[in-house]
Amino acid sequence: MRYKTQKIANNYFIVAMILFGLQVIFGLILGAKYVWNFDPLLDILPFNVARAIHINLLVVWLIMGFMGGAYYLVPEEARTEIYSPALAHLQLLLFAAIGVAAVTGYVFRWSWGMPFLEQPTILKIGIVAVALIFLFNIFMTMMKTRRWTVIQGVLLGGLVMLAGMFLFGIPFLKNLSTQYYWWWWVIHLWVEGAWELVAGAIMAFVLLKLTGVDRRVIEKWLYIEAGLVLFTGIAGTGHHYYWIGTPKYWLWVGGIFSALEPVPIVLMVFDTLRHVKEKRLEIIDKLALYWAVGSAVLHFFGAGVWGFAHTLPAINQWTHGTQITASHGHFAFYGAYVMLNLTVIIFFVPRLRGIKLRNQTLGFGAFWTMNFFMVMMVLGLAVAGIVQTYFQRVLGMDYLTTQGYMGLWYAVFWVSALGFAAGVAMYMVDFFSLELEKKR
Ligand code: HEM
Ligand code: HEM
Ligand SMILES: [Fe+2]
Repeated sequence: MRYKTQKIANNYFIVAMILFGLQVIFGLILGAKYVWNFDPLLDILPFNVARAIHINLLVVWLIMGFMGGAYYLVPEEARTEIYSPALAHLQLLLFAAIGVAAVTGYVFRWSWGMPFLEQPTILKIGIVAVALIFLFNIFMTMMKTRRWTVIQGVLLGGLVMLAGMFLFGIPFLKNLSTQYYWWWWVIHLWVEGAWELVAGAIMAFVLLKLTGVDRRVIEKWLYIEAGLVLFTGIAGTGHHYYWIGTPKYWLWVGGIFSALEPVPIVLMVFDTLRHVKEKRLEIIDKLALYWAVGSAVLHFFGAGVWGFAHTLPAINQWTHGTQITASHGHFAFYGAYVMLNLTVIIFFVPRLRGIKLRNQTLGFGAFWTMNFFMVMMVLGLAVAGIVQTYFQRVLGMDYLTTQGYMGLWYAVFWVSALGFAAGVAMYMVDFFSLELEKKR
């Protein structure tokens, strides 16, 4: 850590970690509802409410992590202190308060309805205020020195796009097709556009610090990847417009462009591996290196392979909205964004706290446990999805009868989820002991 105000990032990471823990607990509750017919929580916390909480916690903690990452990275890139630490603290408090209000509200059925965007409009306006404070603070910090780097440019572009796309999720429209049309501008253009840019910039920074490879090489690749992500991802939105009442040409546009979406993701894997191979520094933080490379690899499988598997219209007409989608949703979010945040946290926090050498055994235990069991969870859901697609969609069996045949795979999913939760617990213990450790 070179700048005092980078410390602010630490508070964001602590809140992010707590929310991650809660997200996993709600995931386990959801999974239990799949497995058992008996549901003691049916009236207090029905499936839809628990699901809203699970996915909202996910999005909020990931964004908190990105914000923390930005507050750590921008001072080092711009070579100056954060413009206003007070605003950064205020923004965290406000964001956390809105998060608590939203989750409490869901329990009392106060919800806007659309998945991921369940926050009632008044809270959405609060979120916009948080985003504006954040962007202002980051932008003003960059403007202090105007040392523009590609990393800063892509990060800022991604963050502006992230905030901008959210606006399309605010108006309430009477027609469900038009509502879903714009909904995807938030959901799809976030994870396959804006977030990829933010993640790409943060990952480039991590690799730069970890390997000491020439900045020009890293930045050249970041530039190409960011361009390709936008080129394929924007028109790729069409893969959600196949069956919602939009014109037929989307079958072609969505099919072709989304089939190309894995290209930049493959580049990212090669690129990461090459930087690691051509490293100039001796890599002391092996754990951070494992998380970074692991993220590149699982990003490729979860988003690239699992996404491609159901993105062509001829396949998606059978798999749409089945557990195949849920399998891909978990895998892609995990590989691309959860693992990126876990990389950032495990790499930045020791630096923030001035801790150089530490025992990484528990950290590696968490790494292997989480990754192994997430892959098992994803495979469990994928097989459940294949059974569902075949029985329900191809053979025309009714929904509930099909669910009966999927039970075994739901059980595989849930048992693997317990293993995954154990891995998360290990990561948490490692993280909080890091937070409590005295500076050396
Ligand atoms: C203990 C671990 C977890 C369990 C048991 C679990 C379980 C579930 C369940 C049952 C659903 C509802 C799917 C449906 O609507 O039928 C769900 C949704 C979702 N979960 Fe998890 N989850 C866990 C962890 C995670 C993690 C770590 C992530 C992030 C990578 C995540 C991301 C999501 C997403 C994105 C959705 C929405 C999926 C969609 O719309 O298709 N979950 N989860
Ligand atoms: C990191 C990037 C990605 C993330 C986090 C992600 C996440 C998700 C999630 C959560 C859903 C479910 C949305 C819902 O209906 O509630 C979804 C759907 C979908 N994703 Fe991705 N995705 C990513 C990248 C990709 C890529 C690169 C492709 C194509 C190559 C792809 C293809 C699809 C398709 C076709 C659907 C619709 C599934 C259906 O019809 O039910 N995704 N994605
Ligand atoms: Fe998409």
